[in-house]
Amino acid sequence: MDKMRLVLAFWLWLPVGICCAEDIVIADFEQETYGDWAVTGTAFGPGPARGTLPHQMIVEGFLGSGLVNSYFEGDSSIGTLTSPEFQIGRKYIAFLIGGGQDEDKLALQLLVDGQVVRSSTGPNDKAGGSEALEQQSWEVTEFVGQKAVIRIIDQATGGWGHLNVDHIVQTDTKPKGLASNVERTFPATTRYLHLPIKNGAKKRVVTLLVNGQPIVRNDIELADAEPDWWAPMEVQAWQGQTLTLRVDKLPEDSRALANIETSDSLKDATDLYREIGRGQFHFSPRRGWNNDPNGCVFYNGEYHLFFQHNPYGWGWGNMHWGHAVSRDLVHWEELGDKLLPDDMGPMFSGSAVVDWNNTSGFGKDGQPPLVLIYTAAGNPTVQGIAYSTDGRKFTKYSGNPVLGQITGGNRDPKVFWHEETKQWVMVLYVEWQGKHTIHFFTSQNLKEWQLASITNGDAPGGRFLFECPDFFELPMDGDDARKKWVLLAADSNYAVGTFDGKQFLPDATRLIGQRGKGFYAAQSFSDVPDGRRILIGWWQTETKGMPFNQSMTVPLELKLTQTDDGPRMTFEPVKELEALREKSHRFELTSLQPGDKNPLDDLRAELVEVRVEFEPGDATEVVFNIRDVMVEYDCVKQELSVAGHRAPAPLIAGKQRLVIYCDRTGVEVFASDGRCYMPMPYNTNRENQRLFFETRGGTATIRWLEVHELKSAWR
Ligand code: FRU
Repeated sequence: MDKMRLVLAFWLWLPVGICCAEDIVIADFEQETYGDWAVTGTAFGPGPARGTLPHQMIVEGFLGSGLVNSYFEGDSSIGTLTSPEFQIGRKYIAFLIGGGQDEDKLALQLLVDGQVVRSSTGPNDKAGGSEALEQQSWEVTEFVGQKAVIRIIDQATGGWGHLNVDHIVQTDTKPKGLASNVERTFPATTRYLHLPIKNGAKKRVVTLLVNGQPIVRNDIELADAEPDWWAPMEVQAWQGQTLTLRVDKLPEDSRALANIETSDSLKDATDLYREIGRGQFHFSPRRGWNNDPNGCVFYNGEYHLFFQHNPYGWGWGNMHWGHAVSRDLVHWEELGDKLLPDDMGPMFSGSAVVDWNNTSGFGKDGQPPLVLIYTAAGNPTVQGIAYSTDGRKFTKYSGNPVLGQITGGNRDPKVFWHEETKQWVMVLYVEWQGKHTIHFFTSQNLKEWQLASITNGDAPGGRFLFECPDFFELPMDGDDARKKWVLLAADSNYAVGTFDGKQFLPDATRLIGQRGKGFYAAQSFSDVPDGRRILIGWWQTETKGMPFNQSMTVPLELKLTQTDDGPRMTFEPVKELEALREKSHRFELTSLQPGDKNPLDDLRAELVEVRVEFEPGDATEVVFNIRDVMVEYDCVKQELSVAGHRAPAPLIAGKQRLVIYCDRTGVEVFASDGRCYMPMPYNTNRENQRLFFETRGGTATIRWLEVHELKSAWR
């Protein structure tokens, strides 16, 4: 080696030698037992935990397979865990920590000379939160050379009464820790701030401040590096003011705040509404998660559809009321979030009414107000109202809440005007005395409510009715002189009965509504001009890889019909959906038997509506294959099967009529004149646009068959 090289090698080696001695692992908790650590009490169990303990949320962020997890036997157990003495030989002690927050009762401590000189606790101080461990460290230069011990204490017994700890190391390299209350300020000159989201990342508490005043807080899976998608935060309302985003904790090297961009349009949205996973005629939000439809109402020439929206996540959370409008129930325009979480909590489900007589006094210049009635799901969980006279801008009532908490499980107010008794009626779901109940309240002005009755919505001994109630009158077989009240629950089970303005009396035990999958929390529209009862449901269509998730069903017209078994509700697609038809095919076909050529052989269609009427004859099955989704009618059992999911679908006057809608996110099948409605989420394969129609076992008489190629409802 020549001299030059020798010098170079020396200099390369030297800084390493001086600056950074090797890390010393104090404990990695990878063994079966705690070894020579001293244990008291029971909270720490017989040895390090292997991850999550029974009944615990998923514990993540530890290294290897073991960690200290003081949830042994639940939150109520207590104890201490103390290390053998060691010598402090590095500038920092780094560790991973998670669990409950309580500086006195839940702590990882460093003791020198028997005194606590450093202490850290977990991040969680309220229900929810996360079991994830995160990096923290102590600077300990002043104690180098001294003897110390590490002690972990769990003296907490309530919710979050445990601590998670792992990988305690002495190091000279300053560990990347978490910075607290990290902020970035933006001049409000654009419509959106685009937040980088990483699905599954640790949720950070992100507060929006306007001129220094906190406006709204959300729990957001911020991407520290590359995001999966961008969530638009709408800041138009604060133009010209100073916006600050404050994040409770962020890794020091996180790029989350720096990566936020501002603009007037959605980011990465060149294919908006044409995305491969986007339902083309089922409403879904541009970005984020939706669940229940809320505030369904017709007002000033528009149908309003509000919905449970998480603008900042692919999963449930941060409940806002998103908002969309339509003139025809087919083409929807999303307008942005209208009810944001506030001091009373996140905005859970509720309904809307047009206050024609201005009983609330919210009307202006003769314009009746649109009033939203919602649940603010904080602690306590209460009911509030908000109003608008233009259907665009909504103001929360300053006298909220209009109904205090009955029990923590009270939610989802559905309100309507009861003309006979000239009062407002609220139908509220209440978990009460260990039961799912419906409480009826009445009001003159939407602001003060009196309890009128309580029911489990069923005949004695019947099943209980669960959340998101809807309640309306339907004429029997179209006869307005024979109307019946229907109480409908989130699972779409329903009871038919009578109502006197105070009390609902079911005629019989509860009935089963829809027969498919992923249909939940449906709500009907108030004030539909032609008096139809139109329902729209949350459709649990999962769209992995998309910057949005879930959708709504098509709007459904509800009717009541008298059958041999008693009154039954029927579900049919609204006639407005005909506007989607782009190219229609009618088939001159009178019969179909096994071995016949596939009548639909020449067709290729992605979005499609199929309608058929047949008499089974001696066919045992009449079968459609719609782009790989099997829709099979069993003529013998009189059952419909969609993608293998079966339900009764009786022949009516010897005939069966099927209506099939196929979108990118699934199919909705209607049989037996709406008595059997089967929505089925299904991620269809875009490549396969083939349709088949056949019979099995014999010849069926085909009365008519039509196939409509549909266009997208998105403009
Ligand atoms: C039903 C539901 C409602 C609640 C809402 C919260 O899906 O649980 O009861 O109001 O969702 O998003």
